[in-house]
Amino acid sequence: MENDNGNFKMVAKTFRGLETVLYKELKELGATDLEVGNRMVEFTGNKEFMYRANFHLRTALRILKPIADFKVINDQQLYDKIQTIDWSTYFDLKKTFAIDSVIFSDHFSHSNFVSQRVKDAIVDQFREKFKKRPYVDTEDPDIQIGIHISHDLCTVSLDSSGESLHKRGYRQISNKAPINEVLAAGMILLSGWDKKSTFIDPMCGSGTLVIEAALIANNIPPGAYRKKFGFETWKDFDNELLEDIYEEDYEEPSSEVKVFGSDISEMAIRVSKENISSAGLRKKIELKIDPIENFNPPISGGGVVVTNPPYGERIKINEINSFYKSLGDIFKNKYKGFEIWLLSNNNDAIKHVGLHPSNKVTLFNGALECKYLNYSIYEGSKKTKNMDID
Ligand SMILES: C[S@@+](CC[C@H](N)C(=O)[O-])C[C@H]1O[C@@H](n2cnc3c(N)ncnc32)[C@H](O)[C@@H]1O
Repeated sequence: MENDNGNFKMVAKTFRGLETVLYKELKELGATDLEVGNRMVEFTGNKEFMYRANFHLRTALRILKPIADFKVINDQQLYDKIQTIDWSTYFDLKKTFAIDSVIFSDHFSHSNFVSQRVKDAIVDQFREKFKKRPYVDTEDPDIQIGIHISHDLCTVSLDSSGESLHKRGYRQISNKAPINEVLAAGMILLSGWDKKSTFIDPMCGSGTLVIEAALIANNIPPGAYRKKFGFETWKDFDNELLEDIYEEDYEEPSSEVKVFGSDISEMAIRVSKENISSAGLRKKIELKIDPIENFNPPISGGGVVVTNPPYGERIKINEINSFYKSLGDIFKNKYKGFEIWLLSNNNDAIKHVGLHPSNKVTLFNGALECKYLNYSIYEGSKKTKNMDID
């Protein structure tokens, strides 16, 4: 599937709602033949570009390299087609492997069963050729194989990322319900923040949004902290090429932009501090233990607030509604000149913010369908009673 120039098709996967941001990131990085799909963007590039994509993309979860596609309507056909691929060109007996199957087809109902058949076909091929078999390791495989069956079309890919790219490598400890790093970066990029004006998360928890903001402002690639990418255990791994990319594309953080994080919980701020230190961003982010009610943003210059407040699972309905009402009051009174972006799955509570959203996007925080709302706070911003946001 590689052409004469060494270019091949790849698939970058992401969360629902972040496809257009990922498209933009890929375009800026130099990808060609871009096509947006459902929770993914297809593109073309060479091996160097595949390494760069893993190193740079903030909103990609993984980068897949398709190696074969064919039609299948039953498991015997699947077994036979998988056996037509010469697996020894991709890995040898010393490597472990794992299969991840995603099925959207009436012909196959269980992804586990599909993975099993694919594994059998690969193992049998090795046994026939070498009288020995490679072993499966579902925790930390050397070679991660992706099977995607849509109707009768099966695509076989190698996962060049290995562990999901949201695992940047800077998180030391987690507080309660940390937001996924890919989602956090996507929220910041969707906000259109200019990377120069003040950035605040006044309910920062373990600090994911402020860390991702500081990485963005300082042009630090999210892969700079990763210990390993999947392609590093491939047969064709080029270590020199990866080292060149690290050297060429990593700059020392130099932005003067102000990034603030604050949280009511002392524990959350302690966790944030650990994570920020591990990312080497201590001088780039200011932290405070403060309830949002007391936190005062810098008076001049405006800026952006991107935040993920409590959704209210453990709080009484009238308490969470009145908390969201007070958030609306705080934004209106203290955040003149700011663009506020708020992620929540609590539609009832959101109505109590009482400000008119100028933009809203649907995003998923894990399985939770959330609204990501933008409130532009200017001099004359008015509060309205229980805004209808649907
Ligand atoms: C959903 S969590 C945020 C998670 C965060 N985005 C992360 O990645 O870890 C909500 C946070 O709001 C904080 N919080 C709740 N009430 C607050 C208040 N009145 N002022 C400031 N922070 C508050 C909680 O302590 C919690 O850390």
